[in-house]
Amino acid sequence: MKAIISEKYGTPDTLKLGEVDKPIPKSNEVLVKVYASSINFGNLALLTGKPLPVRFVFGLWKPKYRIPGGDVAGVVEAVGRDVTQLQIGDRVYGDLANSGWGALAEYVAAGEKELALMPSNLFFTEMAGVPMAGTTALQAIRDIGKVRAGQKILIHGASGGVGTFAVQIAKALGAEVTAVVSTRNVELVKSLGADHVMDYRKTDFVNDGKTFDVIFGVNGSQSIFTYKKKLKDNGVFIHVGGANSQFYQTMLVGPLLSIFGKKKFITFLQRPNQQDLVFINGLIEEGKVKPVMDRGYSLKEVPKAFQYFEKGHAQGKVIITIE
Ligand SMILES: NC(=O)c1ccc[n+]([C@@H]2O[C@H](COP(=O)([O-])OP(=O)(O)OC[C@H]3O[C@@H](n4cnc5c(N)ncnc54)[C@H](OP(=O)(O)O)[C@@H]3O)[C@@H](O)[C@H]2O)c1
Repeated sequence: MKAIISEKYGTPDTLKLGEVDKPIPKSNEVLVKVYASSINFGNLALLTGKPLPVRFVFGLWKPKYRIPGGDVAGVVEAVGRDVTQLQIGDRVYGDLANSGWGALAEYVAAGEKELALMPSNLFFTEMAGVPMAGTTALQAIRDIGKVRAGQKILIHGASGGVGTFAVQIAKALGAEVTAVVSTRNVELVKSLGADHVMDYRKTDFVNDGKTFDVIFGVNGSQSIFTYKKKLKDNGVFIHVGGANSQFYQTMLVGPLLSIFGKKKFITFLQRPNQQDLVFINGLIEEGKVKPVMDRGYSLKEVPKAFQYFEKGHAQGKVIITIE
């Protein structure tokens, strides 16, 4: 079968399209014919080996996962003998980032617990963007932020893969959403339901006096002391991405600020989770969440897809279609 092969850490052009053996599913796995995948920062870290701590997971000198690709959407083509939840022909999607990667290929073997049935009303290309970005937004907002109806949430960096899900999920949970984006993304996030939109190129959202119950740091470069000012008493700042300085501040200074004050500062790492895929399915079927696709690339164009993605200006998800 055709697959994208990663033999060493480097830039996107180190990735090669090659021929490898079709995987054979273990007893608790299914073989998925892949129709689409998507690009995430986890993929980028697996490609580049950066930031360096990721090498403790991905391999010190070279990537131990030869075929990248975490998000998958496709059809079950074979099932292992212990599989109970899925059948041949099921349309499934999932996040394989904690279970061997491999979705940038024509076929991948995946544990049935990594997958969920797709909603009937969406295409593979739409669903391939959901697993990592959607569950990151869901887990951060619902589980860490514990956002409740009527609460005010600020989503900093609301126009990319995670941000577009975050706006819709926060709205679905009943929050009043303020989205911080650049000028070109103002209409996009309004169309997703944001109640207020701040254009970070034109508005001084830092000093406007408004405060929030939850601030979700998706992409931004403010210091956590700025976010502290913008949190209500008992407010929560959740960091998932953005400038590295934010990551180190939230990880190192955040716990101290959290211990000595009422406001909480949390660095959060998404975990693939079947129940959360099912939960998002529900939101999609109810029409409360719709995946936003930026652009699509074919399997052989994966290096180009990474080159585009690593610039950091995607509007929604960058999708890979596997013919
Ligand atoms: N912790 C976790 O488990 C986890 C999981 C997934 C992702 N992440 C992290 O989350 C972050 C977002 O991931 P993603 O896939 O959503 O990224 P993405 O799709 O590449 O995000 C790109 C979007 O961010 C916007 N943006 C860039 N800089 C901005 C800024 N200073 N202020 C506001 N918006 C800005 C861009 O719009 P403009 O360029 O027009 O501003 C673009 O629309 C990444 O840092 C990633 O590493 C973490």
